[in-house]
Amino acid sequence: MLMPHLTVRQLPTLPPAIAQAPRLHVAIISDGNGRWATSRGLPRSAGHRAGAESARRVIEAAPRMGIHTLTLFALSSANWQRPAAEVQAILRLLQEYLLTETHHCIDEGVRLSIIGRRDRLPAALRQAIADSEAATAKGPRLHLRLAVDYSAREAIYHAACRFYKVTELSPQSFSTVLAEVHRGGSTEVDLLIRTGGEQRLSDFLLWECAFAEFVFLQKRWPDFTAADLDAAVKEFSRRERTRGALPDAIAG
Ligand code: IPE
Ligand code: MG
Repeated sequence: MLMPHLTVRQLPTLPPAIAQAPRLHVAIISDGNGRWATSRGLPRSAGHRAGAESARRVIEAAPRMGIHTLTLFALSSANWQRPAAEVQAILRLLQEYLLTETHHCIDEGVRLSIIGRRDRLPAALRQAIADSEAATAKGPRLHLRLAVDYSAREAIYHAACRFYKVTELSPQSFSTVLAEVHRGGSTEVDLLIRTGGEQRLSDFLLWECAFAEFVFLQKRWPDFTAADLDAAVKEFSRRERTRGALPDAIAG
């Protein structure tokens, strides 16, 4: 039956590079929380709390920008070298986020996955992760992946250890094994953003970033806004992605 009161919603036109990759995967190394806090005379944990707010803003804005997968580096495996109190504070914030935001994620069509090791996380957090993942599994609008106790090198190593048992040896099947190791899948990164002034990958998504475009920003993560994400996506859309082939203009 026709429903005359329903009109077809006009989709906004996206810039060409985004239109080509409508399922844009943006990964963010959200760095600079500690410096943001210390420069204000606050404890580093206040920087992580402000960073969690920044993450909320970005997650909300991402789907409007053609972003279908958003991976945020919440805690690196290398971060265990920090004082235990700081790591605990980050893990507590994560648990708080899962408990307060899961319903919001369901309402907003956000599917949440955690990538990384789970065996070193507190049991209550592991449970909160499993509950949020199950509750949001059908979210169609945005796949939000939080990297927690994550090391790309370790994930690749574990995938390689499993891979020798796989009968069909191909780069695709390796990606599949890596996706299993991650649990939250393994999709090519289109755009990698790093805040906080450093210009390095810090063991984040080494396999998936093979052809990613990089945007490095001085801004510290708690100061990062939806407008900054929009600007980075626009910068990405101006880049010519040849993947080693010739640019269209030269290739004719
Ligand atoms: C990034 O901010 C957040 C995490 C690594 C968890 P940092 O804590 O690294 O902040 P800076 O780099 O010391 O300013
Ligand atoms: Mg840092």
